[in-house]
Amino acid sequence: MKSLYCSHELLQLIPIIFFSILLLHFQQVAAVEYVRPPPGKIISTSHNRPDSHPQQVHISIAGNDHMRISWITNDKSVPSVVEYGKVSGKYNASSSTGEHTTYRYFFYNSGKIHHVKIGPLDSNTVYYYRCGGVGDEFSFRTPPSKFPIEFALAGDLGQTEWTASTLAHVNKTDYDVLLLPGDLSYADSQQPLWDTFGRFVEKYASKRPWMVTQGNHEVEAFLPLFKIESFKAYNTRWIMPYQESGSHSNLYYSFDVSGVHIVMLGSYTEFGISSPQYEWLQNDLVKINRKKTPWVITIVHVPWYNTNIAHQGEGEKMRIAMEDLLYKAKVDIVFAGHVHAYERFARVYDNQANPCGPMHLTVGDGGNREGLALMFKKPTSPLSLFREASFGHGRLRIVNQTHAHWTWHRNNDDHNSSVSDEVWLANISANEGCNKKLAFQDDDGEDMSNNVIMNDEL
Ligand SMILES: *[C@@H]1O[C@H](CO)[C@@H](O)[C@H](O)[C@H]1NC(C)=O
Ligand SMILES: *[C@@H]1O[C@H](CO)[C@@H](O)[C@H](O)[C@H]1NC(C)=O
Ligand SMILES: *[C@@H]1O[C@H](CO)[C@@H](O)[C@H](O)[C@H]1NC(C)=O
Ligand SMILES: *[C@@H]1O[C@H](CO)[C@@H](O)[C@H](O)[C@H]1NC(C)=O
Ligand SMILES: *[C@@H]1O[C@H](CO)[C@@H](O)[C@H](O)[C@H]1NC(C)=O
Ligand SMILES: [Fe+2]
Repeated sequence: MKSLYCSHELLQLIPIIFFSILLLHFQQVAAVEYVRPPPGKIISTSHNRPDSHPQQVHISIAGNDHMRISWITNDKSVPSVVEYGKVSGKYNASSSTGEHTTYRYFFYNSGKIHHVKIGPLDSNTVYYYRCGGVGDEFSFRTPPSKFPIEFALAGDLGQTEWTASTLAHVNKTDYDVLLLPGDLSYADSQQPLWDTFGRFVEKYASKRPWMVTQGNHEVEAFLPLFKIESFKAYNTRWIMPYQESGSHSNLYYSFDVSGVHIVMLGSYTEFGISSPQYEWLQNDLVKINRKKTPWVITIVHVPWYNTNIAHQGEGEKMRIAMEDLLYKAKVDIVFAGHVHAYERFARVYDNQANPCGPMHLTVGDGGNREGLALMFKKPTSPLSLFREASFGHGRLRIVNQTHAHWTWHRNNDDHNSSVSDEVWLANISANEGCNKKLAFQDDDGEDMSNNVIMNDEL
C-alpha cells in the first residue's frame, strides 16, 4: 500500500522533473539570448540659453535644394530669419522669407515657433547657420544628389534614456537623412514635453534633416468638448514639405532625395477611396519618374503587416484601402512604427509573399517610456522573416539604382549596438517578371516567383 502510494507520488513527480529539465534548458538558452531592457527613465532637457536664443532647432527637406529651419524662442521679438554660409562664422546668405506662429493648448502658451526656408543649397555640402540673428552657430549637411545615400530609421522615439542610447547609436555612423515613422515626444497633451523633446533631439535634428510622420501620440484631441483640434502641436512644430508636394495637409506628403521618392502617409486621417489623402497619394505616385527616381519608399505609423500581439489588426483598414495603389506603383519598402519591436516581412501583397510587392518593416523600437511589445503571435507566419522585441534602429543604404542594403541595429547597452538583421534588396524593376505581372494584374504570380530574384536571395 505504502509502496504503491510512493510510486504514485513518483509518477506525479515525473512531469515535474521533465518540466524542470525543460525549464533549465530554456534558461540556458535565455542566458545566451539578449536580456530585454525595461522602459528607460524620461530625460527632461532644459533650455539654458537666454530667451532670445534659439531652442529646439530642427531641419527638414523642403522641396528641391531647400531646407526648412525650425526653432522656437521664448522671446517673441526675435525675427524669423536664418543667416547661413559654407564657412563657419561667415554668413553670406540669409533668408527672411520665414513664418512664425504660436499656439495655445488649455493653459499652455507656446513660444514663438519659427519656420524659415533657405536655399537653393548645394548637395552634399556643410552649411553653417544662425537663427534669429543671435545665439549659437549650428551646422548641417545637405543630402547627396546621387547614390549612395544612407537613411537612419527609428520610430516611437519618446525621450527616455533608451531613446538617448538609440540616437547615440544612430549618430555613431554617418547618415544623410533620418526617417521617423511617427510617435515623437509622447507628450500626450502635456505640452511642455513637446519642448523638452525638441531640446532633446536638437543636437541631432539640427545637423541632418529629420523627416517625420505622425502617430497616435501626436493626435492630442479633446474634441468636441474643449474645441482643441487634433495634431495641433505636431502641425505647428513639425511642419513637413506638404505644400511643396501638392498636399493640403501636413499629415501626408512626399519628397525626393538622391533618386529616392519618399511618401509619408497618415494613419490617423481619412484614407478611404474618396478621401483627400487617397486622391493625393494616387496623383503623387503617378508623377514618379522611375528613370530618375529608381526607389520608392512609403512610411506610415500603423503597420499593415504585423505578427505582434500588440496593435494586432489595427492597420488592416488602411491596408485594404491603399495597398493596391502602392503595389501598382511598385513601391520598394513600407516602413511602419507603432508596435514597439522590430519585424521584417518578405515582399508581400494581399497577405501573400509576392516578389513584386514591397518589403514591410516595423521599426517602432526607438525607446519610448511605454517599453517593448514582447509578445508575438504563434506559430510564426511564413511572411514574417525576422522579429524581435528590442530597442534599436534601422539603416537603409541605397547603394545604386539597383541595390540597397538594410541593417537593423539592436541597442545592446548604453555604449554599443550590433547588427542583428540584414538583407540586400534589388529594385523591383530589375525583375522582368514584375513588369509582366503588372500588365496582367490577375495572374496568381505563383509560377513567376520561381524565376525571379527574391530580396533575400541576393
Ligand atoms: C557665399 O560664399 C561662397 C564661398 O565662400 C560662394 O560659393 C557662394 O556663392 C556665396 N553665396 C552668395 C549668396 O554670395
Ligand atoms: C555625432 O557624431 C559626430 C561625428 O562623429 C560628433 O562630432 C558629434 O559630437 C556627435 N554628436 C553627439 C551629440 O554625440
Ligand atoms: C532596376 O535595375 C535594372 C537593372 O537590373 C535597370 O535596368 C533599371 O533601370 C532599374 N530600375 C530603375 C527604376 O532604375
Ligand atoms: C550596385 O551595387 C551592387 C552591390 O554593391 C553591385 O553588385 C552592382 O554591380 C552595382 N551596380 C551598378 C550598376 O553599379
Ligand atoms: C557589444 O555588447 C555586447 C553585449 O553587451 C557584446 O556581446 C559585444 O561584444 C559588444 N560589442 C562591441 C563591439 O563592443
Ligand atoms: Fe503608436
